[in-house]
Amino acid sequence: MRVFVLAEYLCLVQVVYCMKISQESIERVASACNIVDVVSSYFPLKRAGVNFRALCPFHHEKSPSFYVNEVRQTFHCFGCGVGGGVFRFVMDYEHLDFPTAVRRLAERSGITLVEESSAQDISARSERARLLDLHHKAALWYHHQLLRSPAALEARSYLKQRGFSKEIAVAWQLGYAPRSWDALKKWGILEGFRASELVAAGLLLKRDSNETYDRFRDRLMFPIRNDYGEVIAFSGRILSAASPEGKYVNSPETSLFKKGNILFGMDKSKRALVQKGEAIVLEGQMDLIAAFEHGCENVVAPQGTAFTLEQARLLRRFVERVILCFDSDNAGMTAVERSLPALFANGFQVRVAQLPSGEDPDSMIQKQGIDSFQKLLSGAEDFFDYSIHRAQGDAGLALSPHRVALLAKQLAGYLTLLPDAVLRERTSEQVALRLGISRAALLSATSPVVLSSRENVEQETRILRKKISAGTELLCRLALVHREVREWLSQQKSPMPHELDPELVLLEELLVSNVVSSSQPIGALLPSLSLCLQHLIPSWDLEKTVPDPLCAAQEVWSGFYVAYLKRQQSEATQQLRQPGISPEQILSIQQEILDLQDSIRNSSRRLAPVA
Ligand code: UTP
Ligand code: MN
Repeated sequence: MRVFVLAEYLCLVQVVYCMKISQESIERVASACNIVDVVSSYFPLKRAGVNFRALCPFHHEKSPSFYVNEVRQTFHCFGCGVGGGVFRFVMDYEHLDFPTAVRRLAERSGITLVEESSAQDISARSERARLLDLHHKAALWYHHQLLRSPAALEARSYLKQRGFSKEIAVAWQLGYAPRSWDALKKWGILEGFRASELVAAGLLLKRDSNETYDRFRDRLMFPIRNDYGEVIAFSGRILSAASPEGKYVNSPETSLFKKGNILFGMDKSKRALVQKGEAIVLEGQMDLIAAFEHGCENVVAPQGTAFTLEQARLLRRFVERVILCFDSDNAGMTAVERSLPALFANGFQVRVAQLPSGEDPDSMIQKQGIDSFQKLLSGAEDFFDYSIHRAQGDAGLALSPHRVALLAKQLAGYLTLLPDAVLRERTSEQVALRLGISRAALLSATSPVVLSSRENVEQETRILRKKISAGTELLCRLALVHREVREWLSQQKSPMPHELDPELVLLEELLVSNVVSSSQPIGALLPSLSLCLQHLIPSWDLEKTVPDPLCAAQEVWSGFYVAYLKRQQSEATQQLRQPGISPEQILSIQQEILDLQDSIRNSSRRLAPVA
């Protein structure tokens, strides 16, 4: 039943996704993008017979089992089981949702998409596009000021003194906001933006008198980008410690920017995150840039806040493990603790790296070098071990009963957040052992913290990767390739395929889809199918032939049918055993059972011995 519900649910997701971009546009994009070209634009492919081959980018391997089929326009990895068409590849490789992947490929091939949307959608989208354009241009302008303006001399020497070269400033598009109340405002108006737009972007502030002025003045500017790399906000740092103003001023929350949804640096660190399967979480943007530029690239920064659920979800698309590397002060420890619920709820394995006191990652890297920092990271302890060690202090003191009770209460609270039952049990055993108390005592130390954990899409995809039965696969395969099989199967309506076996909902889907009636390569049409089929079809060998396809399909069908009849028969037999049924009912059930037995005999005759 599970597959049925899941496939249905995924179809629905698909429909919602597809609504915005017309099916015709999707097919146009698919036929304009040869999967071999698209994949080769990310990494080299080698020809291997009719296929192309490479090391799989989705799992670690030594010999290539990732295949791209140009005729079918599909990819498939025999190692980890991923597969699909060109859209699925871009979605998985770039971590994009479906519409974004289509738009990206459309841009690449110069196709204008026909998007079916309301006037309201269009105006919201054009407003967003204008705000993005403004941020993009403002980042360039601030950057230009930093590199060229004589007034930015102090900013340039500040960067240099902190060990950040010009190349780094260019790579991160760092900027300088002039010491002026209206330099940005004047620039923006000249560029054709309205003052109201500059206010909506948070670049200008409004006085009571309705006058507007620049928010960022005499500050080193960091563009903040979403994970696609679009500038959506800024953070500005003061240049002198003596300044009475706050160290950092950030853009306010705008329609583009919700601080709790963004991880600084993600646009650049994505690749390294996926490669390492682990994220180093740092507090600030300076820390992140320093680490990244010294070669430690799998980094993200929540920018001084504790991890939110949204940030954790975003990060979970890329990695399963995190190392929290927050400042060693109490504020840092609080940030660790406040980040845990979101991280545990999303199934992360959490380790904590303890910085030397008084240092943050940036200062440590500048003073002691990246190797010391990497060593510190490799010594990071599992959160629970870390907490106990921290309580014990460097001397490894035995804890007073009072201290143990306090710690048990705190850790038991975190344990309830672990979503995996086995992991929870194992971890609590270890924690109890370390604290020298029984597991029962540990678990009774707190009442569970209830935290809503959302259904995890990745987990669903993993369930889908499990193989379907050979019979279902054969029926689907034959239906895809042979018209006469398709026609015969389409006539089988009573019972419907999914009544024979919930898995056969996949066959039903195929029979009504445009995949079977189109002359396009299958890969181009995959997006119109459920995720389940998108995933499975590329793994099938469609060239493998059978002598008499229709006969083969009918045999498999009979196999399903006989199993179905037998289930009915055993249900009827159960009914006979129910107390209090009338003699008439008994007679009619017995008749039904006899009929079923006849049908089973008849159908079984068509079944050849199983190969
Ligand atoms: P820190 O105070 O640790 O600053 O704040 P930092 O990252 O070490 O910066 P430098 O090295 O002094 O230049 C950590 C992060 O918290 C956010 C910023 O994102 C900062 O990087 N923060 C800090 C603010 O948003 N506002 C502030 O006033 C201070
Ligand atoms: Mn710092």
